[in-house]
Amino acid sequence: MRITLKNEQDIAQMRIAGRLASEVLDYITPFVRAGATTAELDRLCHVYMQQEQQTIPAPLNYQPSGYPPYPKATCISVNDVVCHGIPSEKKLKNGDILNIDITVIKNGYFGDTSRMFIIGAGSILAKRLVQTTYECMWLGIHQVRPGARLGDIGYAIAQHAHAHGYSIVREYCGHGIGTAFHEAPQVLHYGRPGTGLELKAGMIFTIEPMINAGGHETRMLPDRWTVKTRDRSLSAQWEHTVLVTPSGYEVLTVSAGIPQPPAFLCDT
Ligand code: MF3
Ligand code: CO
Ligand code: CO
Repeated sequence: MRITLKNEQDIAQMRIAGRLASEVLDYITPFVRAGATTAELDRLCHVYMQQEQQTIPAPLNYQPSGYPPYPKATCISVNDVVCHGIPSEKKLKNGDILNIDITVIKNGYFGDTSRMFIIGAGSILAKRLVQTTYECMWLGIHQVRPGARLGDIGYAIAQHAHAHGYSIVREYCGHGIGTAFHEAPQVLHYGRPGTGLELKAGMIFTIEPMINAGGHETRMLPDRWTVKTRDRSLSAQWEHTVLVTPSGYEVLTVSAGIPQPPAFLCDT
């Protein structure tokens, strides 16, 4: 598949879609607490997208070849769910960690972002996994500039995860995005520096590392969407949609409530 370079008009539309996706996460944040079900959170996000934003939830009925249609507006992945968790009637409880992944379509353009949440105080392990995964995403983003290669991004992410004793999920990766949900290229969250596709200004893709506290292996549930860690260890993920600019990068999935980048990236 070809990699599309976005023009100024595309980029303006992608900024809008990215901001709207991030604003859904801002909106849902106060509702993410013990006792809430993930189906309730999904419903609230869906209504907000339709009523307040006039955006379309991209996951709903999304059906890549070989998959059944995805049944909900969002993906909510709790504890040992790696990704594509289907919102359900199960209640969140203290100590749970969860990823809420929002993809909106506005004017035909897709914005894709996810954040982690911890219910209550969270264990030391859970907090450390969530924070380290956040740092991994940002270390990957920090590699983005014309002339850098995809392997530089993957390497930066994997190095940091491995330094903490964590593993990187291999079956799922970041992706080009624009007027389609998943475009070329695939953005692996591991790799060798100086290898892989060379980045060019105008490329837009996601960086969305999935990092496990235990082994990297995953298994898919019979619903054919939900992905869990094989060893039932906790898994965390953060996601941004990023533009390659002439001088570096621009994160497109930004809004008023966005978490700050880690302090060690204060030179950006
Ligand atoms: N938002 C996910 C991603 O980051 C994809 C979800 S596909 C779905 O690529 F069908 F499960 F929603
Ligand atoms: Co994505
Ligand atoms: Co996503």
